[in-house]
Amino acid sequence: MRPEPSDRRAPARGLDPDRNRGWVRRVLPLLGARRRLFVAALVASGAGVLATLAIPVVLRDAIDTALPTPTNPVPGASLMPFVWAVLALGVVRAALGFVARSGLFRVAYHLEYDLRRLLYEHLTRLSFSFYDRVQSGQLISRANSDVRSVQMYLAYAPALLVTAGSFALALVLMVQVHVGLTLVAVAPLPGVYLLGTRLRQELFPLSWVVQARLAEVATVVDESVTGTRIVKAFAAERRQIALLERAARRLHWAGVRQFDARARYAPLMENLPRVGLALVLLYGGYLAIEGQVTVGDLILFSSYVVMLQAPFRSLGFLLMLSQRAAASAQRIFEVLDTEPDIVDAPGAVDLVRPRGEVELRDVWFTYPATSEPVLRGLSLHLAPGETVALVGRTGTGKSSVARLLTRFYDVDGGAVLVDGHDVREVTLASLRTAVGVVIDEPFLFSDTLFANIAYGRPDATLDDVHRAATAAGAADFIAALPEGYDTVVGERGYTLSGGQRQRVAIARTLLVDPAVLVLDDATSAVDAEREEEIHTAVQALMRGRTTLVIAHRLSTIALADRVVLLDEGRAVAEGTHHELLAREPRYGQVLAAVGADESQEPAAAGGPAR
Ligand SMILES: Nc1ncnc2c1ncn2[C@@H]1O[C@H](COP(=O)(O)OP(=O)(O)OP(=O)(O)O)[C@@H](O)[C@H]1O
Ligand SMILES: [Mg+2]
Repeated sequence: MRPEPSDRRAPARGLDPDRNRGWVRRVLPLLGARRRLFVAALVASGAGVLATLAIPVVLRDAIDTALPTPTNPVPGASLMPFVWAVLALGVVRAALGFVARSGLFRVAYHLEYDLRRLLYEHLTRLSFSFYDRVQSGQLISRANSDVRSVQMYLAYAPALLVTAGSFALALVLMVQVHVGLTLVAVAPLPGVYLLGTRLRQELFPLSWVVQARLAEVATVVDESVTGTRIVKAFAAERRQIALLERAARRLHWAGVRQFDARARYAPLMENLPRVGLALVLLYGGYLAIEGQVTVGDLILFSSYVVMLQAPFRSLGFLLMLSQRAAASAQRIFEVLDTEPDIVDAPGAVDLVRPRGEVELRDVWFTYPATSEPVLRGLSLHLAPGETVALVGRTGTGKSSVARLLTRFYDVDGGAVLVDGHDVREVTLASLRTAVGVVIDEPFLFSDTLFANIAYGRPDATLDDVHRAATAAGAADFIAALPEGYDTVVGERGYTLSGGQRQRVAIARTLLVDPAVLVLDDATSAVDAEREEEIHTAVQALMRGRTTLVIAHRLSTIALADRVVLLDEGRAVAEGTHHELLAREPRYGQVLAAVGADESQEPAAAGGPAR
């Protein structure tokens, strides 16, 4: 709709298409594209840890220089070099921290962008059969939280590993000073790890529950808002409030449980290393008095004991990230590995200047999600320029015919032909330009009326758009709006009435000027007074093209040269309205069932409407 941001960058490389590989290997090419930045960030975070570890070393040396020790009984050297060293280390740490953080975040957001873009691109290529199967809420969550958790793991796991590895150096330094004191100091650390694991075991299911209940609350709010007309019409406000209250209470329970677990474990985990600290003071103090370690060594140990708990905690965090990322990656690849079933055949040709001849030849069709055929040997022929009304009971497959003409689905048997070409042998783009559909529930984008009407031809001028709107009978009400064509219509065009929305949809199709037009109940949402106007518009729309109107009312049937009655998946009768009424009892029944009053004379029933 809106112009795309100009700084759009294509992902430098795609994903590994080999499904037998592990997900990390499949995503790795994306990370590989940012290899330099990523490695720089990792090196910086490792070096940052080393600088952090160096500070206690400087402190130790400073203290051992300043205090009398057995080897240096008469201190007196200046402390200034140590002061400068600590300052310099601080500056280096800050610089490294900047490089590491900004590098990692950049890589992480690149990854997120690339993944999301690949996912969206793939989603737009997928066919209707996929969307029939998958809930849109699911897709939104895949595009958001799953992408994020994969990105988190890939960007932060290596950094956490590098940091943890660098901290191992602290252990080496400690062992060099005193093995026994090192063992005493790190004794509580496995406890930190175990507590962390316990916490996650308790927290992990709880966080799923919280997520699910958040979604519950969101659904209730969403339905109360979008369905507010129904809620109010049935005076069901109290029921909705009760529903929300229940969902909110359930969320509250899970949220409190989650933070209970955190409140119990986090202080323990934070303070366990203090036990190590106390032990270091006790045993180290004794060793210092004995002269086996210096006071500086004690300072070194006590700093490291507290520092070391971080990598121990993050190792557990890493495990959790990896589990979550694996689950998310599986969901993402489920989408990415789904092949669209409706694609251009190799060697597909463009439909050039179509005349608009349409034929369904013994068409059999079953929706991928079901087993019962909807169409069972339907044959139908429309000569160029002809207008045919398709009539049938609800659920007989009229809209399905429209979906087959634009090749939203492929037939299971028989063929759909436009200008004598099987629709499977022409390019989708040219087919969908040649065959225009106005569906019964027109969807409008949250954008201006101009953009909505020009959707099929974004290069259209205001003049073109105005002409299309005039022909569709939409120009008058648009002119009456304060902002005219610049009026932004709501999520589903809520600011417009049903009839207005339909006219905008007709204008949108008219602008593309298709050779074949399918009107699916295009006037159903229009009141009788407006219907006349719309029919004038529709007649203008039909002029010079082949038109299939899926008709529910006599006035629409009146627009057609010929009526075809659809029943049980095939065409059971055809002729003019009067012929069918006279010789086909099922026709009268269908009209009665869909609410058309068959005794009423359509103005020009059966005759050419133009
Ligand atoms: N995406 C789908 N997946 C599975 N079944 C579907 C799908 N769309 C429609 N159907 C089923 O196919 C049958 C024909 O549907 P279709 O929409 O073509 O009916 P219709 O003749 O247009 O009805 P109406 O007059 O009410 O618009 C119905 O039984 C419907 O439930
Ligand atoms: Mg329908």
